[in-house]
This record gives sequence, structure tokens and C-alpha cells, in this order.
Amino acid sequence: MKKQELKISYFEYDSEKELTNDDAELLQKAREITDSAYAPYSQFYVGAALRLKNGKIITGNNQENVAYPSGLCAERVAIYAAGAHYPQEPIEAMAITCKSKTFHVAEPLSPCGACRQAIAEYEMRYQSNIKIILAGETGKIRVVSSISDLLPFMFKAEELKKV
Ligand code: THU
Repeated sequence: MKKQELKISYFEYDSEKELTNDDAELLQKAREITDSAYAPYSQFYVGAALRLKNGKIITGNNQENVAYPSGLCAERVAIYAAGAHYPQEPIEAMAITCKSKTFHVAEPLSPCGACRQAIAEYEMRYQSNIKIILAGETGKIRVVSSISDLLPFMFKAEELKKV
């Protein structure tokens, strides 16, 4: 038996003023779309904004349902909309943020596992890394340059081909 270690890396910014103009704009779009999330059950409003290779920005927010599992997270609403409308266009970057009606979110949002897997699919689909920018309402901003830093040992298509 041998203990193995895995290294991931991420960048932390004290404020969005330190981001590039393009990334700051993307985060702003994610913030704006949180307001129209449909989150009557959790009161937790999430917004995601994707920048495609052609420069187009696609946004999405969480859509809840009284049958809770029927709802969908903001990240998947946005990424599937991009896949539907721009199936040939790789995704360069994704900004994700949130706000709550019941408390102040001062930590960067940490995407759920299902959304990490969905983002991974789109990196593999286009063979192109997706920069992910994570923010709360205030506080530091966390950035990873690929989903592999958020989802080590991810399930990949090659696994399906193994005999
Ligand atoms: N949510 C997202 O939209 N993205 C995440 O990464 C985590 C959770 C939503 C789902 C649900 O509408 C609410 O936040 C509370 O879980």
C-alpha cells in the first residue's frame, strides 16, 4: 500500500477589480442573472455566465420545482443553453455566483458535484479547458483554470470503452 497525493491549484483574488476586464464583465453578468432565478424554496439565488470562443455570453440561473429534484442548478441551465444554441462553440470561461435572501454569502460559491460533471463534459466535448470564476456576494474570488482542479478523478468517456 502506498499513500498517493494529488495536487490541485486555484487562484484567489481579493476583489473583482483584480480580474481581467473580460472576466470582471462575465462575473457582472452572472451577478445580474441571479436576480431572475426561480428559487422560492431555498431562497438561494445562483447565477452563471459563460463566455464562448466567439465572445458571446450565455447566462442561466437556478430553476426550482416543488418536486425538489426536478429543479436544475444555474450552471447546468447555462451550459445546456450554450450547448443547444452554439453546439460548435467551445466555452472559454464560466463565472458563477450566488446570493441568499436569508444570509449574506461572503465565500465563493462551490459548485455541486453534478454541475462539476456537466462542466467536465463540455471540456471533453471541445477538448478545451474552461476557466471557472467563483464568487459570493462579497469576499474573495476563487478561480480555477480547468474543471480538473474541482473534480479530480472525474468519470471520462474512456472509462466506457474499457473491457
Ligand atoms: N444551486 C445551484 O444553482 N448551483 C450550485 O452549484 C449549487 C446549488 C441551487 C440549487 C437550488 O436551487 C439552490 O441552489 C439550493 O441548493
